Amino acid sequence: MPSVNEQPIPAARPVIGEEEIEAAVRVLRSGRVVQGPEVAAFEESFADLVEGRHCVAVNSGTSALHLLLMALNIGPGDEVIVPSFSFAASANAIRLVGADAVFVDIDPDTFCVDPAAVEAAITPRTVAVMPVHLYGHPAAMDQITAIADKHKLAVVEDACQAHAAALNGTPVGAFGAGGTFSFYPTKNMHSLEGGMITVGDAEIARTLRLLRNQGMEQRYANEIVGANMRMTDVAAAVGRVQLAKLNGWTEQRIANAAYLSEHISAPNVVTPVVAEGARHIYHQYTVRVLGDRDAAMAKLTEAGIGNAVYYPTPIHRLKPYWEPDQKAGRHWDLPETEKAAAEVVSLPVHPSLSRDDLERIVTAVNALGEGL
Ligand SMILES: Cc1ncc(COP(=O)(O)O)c(C=O)c1O
Repeated sequence: MPSVNEQPIPAARPVIGEEEIEAAVRVLRSGRVVQGPEVAAFEESFADLVEGRHCVAVNSGTSALHLLLMALNIGPGDEVIVPSFSFAASANAIRLVGADAVFVDIDPDTFCVDPAAVEAAITPRTVAVMPVHLYGHPAAMDQITAIADKHKLAVVEDACQAHAAALNGTPVGAFGAGGTFSFYPTKNMHSLEGGMITVGDAEIARTLRLLRNQGMEQRYANEIVGANMRMTDVAAAVGRVQLAKLNGWTEQRIANAAYLSEHISAPNVVTPVVAEGARHIYHQYTVRVLGDRDAAMAKLTEAGIGNAVYYPTPIHRLKPYWEPDQKAGRHWDLPETEKAAAEVVSLPVHPSLSRDDLERIVTAVNALGEGL
């Protein structure tokens, strides 16, 4: 048990501070609350994070994925290759446009999609690949884009967990046909709820702007069938405040992760691996526990250390995927995915951790010792 004066350390600590509150109130008082000047300003600032790409703000990361697939004309009869070791939203977007998710395995070091598995999964129906920059580690985009170019596939980056991650100096969200970000409260920056699509092509950006707003640029002059996935100006104003702090928060996450990796020495705990050239921004600091994970998590919780499993069930084993795939005779062989789902635990790494918090996390993890 943590001692009486030791508060439990939460796994995540979303910030809604005075600046965020003031920004939200300012917008509410202005009366311009939906897709107005704050949204435009948020999009413009976010472009700095993705080498000046066109940015289109929407109401969630899931909407961002969904609309990007729609804008790329992906639909029934198409296959999209995606790792099963991700949040269900990645595959849900594929199914929401009527396409089939083809699940592939991960690289056991980075937890991101294995490029060789992507290439092996390509069929005549494949139209796109969706790498997920899981936990904030960039996927092997150099290899994935080379494979995609060779086979004329679109690359849709799920960067929902990876704001400001990069590979060899190129930021995520600037590699593929498009990238998507989430601003859910637990993400490295948030807008209460929200999402951003980043694309290189101006025409696709225009289509996305139409799709998020009932197909309209001019009011009541609908050009295509669209949805309502607009971002509010309240969300955008909060997002702008957070975006201005993202750099500092990211540096702090990276420093926190470095401290944990340097000091965690339990022989049955494997600390995160960072691929060469990768800027891992530690949305999650995820270790593998070799042994009884449930027991380890219970001990951490008892010591007041927040912890969580992302994700205990790979997407291909979730009911809405498992049942139709079984019926269709599609069986996925994903040993590294299954192993990761059984071993991973994420520890607190958020920027508000103090040195004392970090020491407590290390002490608790090292106390797990052998023989779990
Ligand atoms: C990998 C991944 N993809 C997509 C999403 C969807 O984002 P949102 O929750 O904003 O819809 C998330 C966020 O939870 C995510 O972690």
